[in-house]
Amino acid sequence: MSKQMHLISFLIHSPMNHTILSWADPKDERLANLGSLKAWQDLARTLEKGRFDAVFFADTPGIFDRYKDRVDESLRYGVCWPAHDPSVLLPAMAAATEHLGLAVTLSVSAVPPYNTVRSISTLDYLSGGRAGWNVVTGHLRGEHRALGLEQLDHDERYDRADEYMEVCYKLWGGVHPGAVIADRATGAFADPAKVDRIDHQGKYFKCRGVPPVLPSAQGRPVIFQAGSSGRGQEFAAKHAEVMFSIQPHVEGMKRYMAQIKEAGARHGRKEPIRVTFGIQPILGGTEAEARKHYDDLLARVPVEAALARLSGSLGVDFSTFELDKPLDEIATQASQGMMKAMTAMVGGKRMTLREIAQYWGMGVGMMPIVGTPEQVADRMESIWRETGCCGFNLTPTINDGSIRDFVSEVVPRLQRKGAVRTDYNHTTLRANLAE
Ligand SMILES: Cc1cc2nc3c(=O)[nH]c(=O)nc-3n(C[C@H](O)[C@H](O)[C@H](O)COP(=O)(O)O)c2cc1C
Repeated sequence: MSKQMHLISFLIHSPMNHTILSWADPKDERLANLGSLKAWQDLARTLEKGRFDAVFFADTPGIFDRYKDRVDESLRYGVCWPAHDPSVLLPAMAAATEHLGLAVTLSVSAVPPYNTVRSISTLDYLSGGRAGWNVVTGHLRGEHRALGLEQLDHDERYDRADEYMEVCYKLWGGVHPGAVIADRATGAFADPAKVDRIDHQGKYFKCRGVPPVLPSAQGRPVIFQAGSSGRGQEFAAKHAEVMFSIQPHVEGMKRYMAQIKEAGARHGRKEPIRVTFGIQPILGGTEAEARKHYDDLLARVPVEAALARLSGSLGVDFSTFELDKPLDEIATQASQGMMKAMTAMVGGKRMTLREIAQYWGMGVGMMPIVGTPEQVADRMESIWRETGCCGFNLTPTINDGSIRDFVSEVVPRLQRKGAVRTDYNHTTLRANLAE
């Protein structure tokens, strides 16, 4: 277990994060702030004040288009639409902060490894070693359609991603110590003997060239991963420094921790894979007030909007299923990890599709932690201790009020328990995460 719990803010650059119709709440500021770089910078400062390790943007650069084989419900309710590019926000958030890590989801579906390394490593270099990359293979059909690509099957997407990472490592490792001379007198900028010529000719990728960016203060970006099928875990065991998982129950979290440990051992990992679990804190002055807030948010989720999201993520058109019948696991080529999270939500109880959709629409299966700031802090601490996880990815409900409330009400309580840092000891994301 890490000495202290790590906190990561889990966001989407769209009208909502993970709670459908959060933008319609009178207190929600996201619509007003969507086009305001200053508001995003203020949010970054709030997270840094709360000593978060990082902000982490999920991203699916396409629309949920599986439900009824159309996009209408996603558009009508603003279900992660528009999908603005989060990587454009990060330099602005970096400029407003000094310690906050900046992690972004980039799909390996369309962009060649060279370009990904170039952009994420430039951010890493500019931010003094604070960048993180959540490597995803692209589980969304809408993404592939938008990009004019054929979607490979689930396991082959990971095979291709393995080779993608191989190219990235070559590019990241290709500038050796002492490569940059920068001698004004002689005009020698670099020592050609200390810069690798990459010549990768593989099944999926070709790359001939030299590394495009200098190593950052942390060398290269921290690798995050969220695949949780068997194949996904193998990929993560090979590449991930931080795993992100959705497990609606503590039992599922413990099981997941054991699986990741085993996968790490199979791959001879010396460093542990740090695991963070997604949670959704819902605060109130009293437990009853928090519960009412949760119930109100849940009641606002239109079932067809939730079905649009569920269908898109799981790659199944749920309009063909009966709403009020219990649902079992279904084979999918999209996100098997999410399918497992969805069925785990049921936790032994048989839930109907309507109940599952509603719950999914509230927070894609992330565990809601509902209560007073004291209760939320206590629950987070007990989950952290019981599971041995590294920390949590926290999704807010009301933007950005629920983040501000968490930072002012819950973080000080966690700090008093000694469960989270009171100040940063390092400037790079990797070093902060390693504490
Ligand atoms: C918690 C969680 C967050 C994810 N976030 C994203 C994301 O932002 N963008 C994306 O394209 N895929 C995302 N995914 C999908 C996974 O990265 C992965 O591609 C997908 O789940 C299929 O792999 P699996 O079957 O091994 O889980 C996420 C999955 C999980 C479980």
